[in-house]
Amino acid sequence: MTLVVDRIGLLVTNDPALGEGPLGIVRDASVVVAGGQVVSVGPAGQVADQRVDADGACVLPGFVDSHTHLVFAGDRAEEFTARMAGRPYDGGGIRVTTGATRTASDEALRSLTADRIAEVRSAGTTTVEVKSGYGLNVDDEARCLRLASEVTDETTFLGAHLLPKEYEGRADDYIDLVCGPMLEACAPHSRWIDAFCEEGAFDEDQCRTVLDAGRAAGLGLRLHGNQLGHGPGVQLAVESGCASVDHCTYLTDADVEALAGSETVATFLPATDFSTRQPYPDARRVVDAGATVALATNCNPGSSYTTSMSFCIALAVRDMGMTIDEAVQAATLGGAAALRRTDVGRITPGSAGHLVILDAPSHHHLAYRPGVPLIRQTIC
Ligand code: NIG
Repeated sequence: MTLVVDRIGLLVTNDPALGEGPLGIVRDASVVVAGGQVVSVGPAGQVADQRVDADGACVLPGFVDSHTHLVFAGDRAEEFTARMAGRPYDGGGIRVTTGATRTASDEALRSLTADRIAEVRSAGTTTVEVKSGYGLNVDDEARCLRLASEVTDETTFLGAHLLPKEYEGRADDYIDLVCGPMLEACAPHSRWIDAFCEEGAFDEDQCRTVLDAGRAAGLGLRLHGNQLGHGPGVQLAVESGCASVDHCTYLTDADVEALAGSETVATFLPATDFSTRQPYPDARRVVDAGATVALATNCNPGSSYTTSMSFCIALAVRDMGMTIDEAVQAATLGGAAALRRTDVGRITPGSAGHLVILDAPSHHHLAYRPGVPLIRQTIC
């Protein structure tokens, strides 16, 4: 079966060889997909077995959300409410979600995750990374990753998310567990390893130990860094060859310079800064320095309970100094780079047939009409 998405008013391909500018924009276009891949991008009117009429709307690559924590139970609305009344965010609520997740059955967790994936798809996201990090013991971390691997190939072992209560005062013992039996149980279900490098979570040496162990087990590397204050996360990520360092809310000139001279993507999570009342990072400075940037939702019950990449794009444009074109590219091609993928985040012959049809004439509406559900159809 072949499928054509026809009568596209404005197509964002992210392939400059196919159209105008860095977004490779083609007007009055159609895209043919076969066997899950784009086979041709051409003028309107191409034919195929099945036809979807875009009716002059904008079509872009499905969003690539490279940072989520979708497998969890419970909710922390009370924590959010208290925060809006002035209580600061410190990550301590991770233990609350860990308690709820540990006691949830497989069936309950599977069903919660499936509902969230349905929400992710209707928000236009076609590739999603999912982390563990709310099990924090061998069995529950492995269980969460097994469930995550039922919904995505982009799974990340985040045993070093926060010290569980039972290891209070014994952080190094916990790191031994993470790098030993936990990694052994989780690696078969994971593509990536990650750690939360922050005061109150894990320090630079502990995170380096985790990354080294993950690399030795054949996993790709990523890191949470510079979320709640300045710290060593970005430099450690660059030095370790991480695919991405995520948050990057507090960056020194040296951090920006290190990112610019590296293959490590700076992934911004602006919905987190929104929900935790942190300042927004100056993405302009990072883009101008020449670093690769991505936008992701960080969907989790504590610091960012949203699956909306459109919301992240609007924040990045309004509050982080990115142009709309840059933000849309960071939410598609940038996310793909953060996952070291070349088959998603673009619409070009050979790429995955992941397309989003907007209820809008151009991608500019994603920032121009914040909060409006503009995703008409997600093709995945
Ligand atoms: O990326 N920073 C660490 N982990 C999550 C927060 C998780 C939570 O508060 O439950 C984050 O923001």
